Amino acid sequence: MRFAGRHLVLGVSGGIACYKSCTLARRLTEAGAAVDVILTAAAAEFVRPVTFEALTGRPVLTSLWERDRALAHLGLAKQPDLIVLAPATANVLARAAMGMADDLLTAVLLARAGPVLCAPAMNDAMYAHPATLANTRRKDRASGRAG
Ligand SMILES: Cc1cc2nc3c(=O)[nH]c(=O)nc-3n(C[C@H](O)[C@H](O)[C@H](O)COP(=O)(O)O)c2cc1C
Repeated sequence: MRFAGRHLVLGVSGGIACYKSCTLARRLTEAGAAVDVILTAAAAEFVRPVTFEALTGRPVLTSLWERDRALAHLGLAKQPDLIVLAPATANVLARAAMGMADDLLTAVLLARAGPVLCAPAMNDAMYAHPATLANTRRKDRASGRAG
């Protein structure tokens, strides 16, 4: 994909690989994409929202409950050319595979009909667990219906 002029959502869940998402956000922005970052609460423990704001030049979203943004989850599901979920924790994969929508990121994923690029990142044993493998294979929900 050429990124110039594209709109991307970068979903960041709370794993140690969050630090790599900073570089990813910067590279996508430098390539000309408008990158809206959504952090889970756990991700915001690893990297503060202001870091992504500085790297992308755009507001960072962390909550379903932000004033004046009542329908943000629906817009962010529908509008972007691509949603990149990186890193995708075992936890967020499980929640998405179950069809849960209890934070902004999972609500966007549940409402998403277009492509989602998903980068699971976790300890080897967590990745090899049958539950995680099953969740990563449930692409219709965990990685988007077209993913
Ligand atoms: C230091 C530390 C590193 C972690 N790294 C990972 C990781 O790489 N992958 C993962 O799936 N979970 C990791 N976890 C566990 C997640 O942070 C935890 O499951 C959290 O609830 C994920 O929330 P989220 O999926 O809503 O972002 C880590 C936890 C800690 C304390």
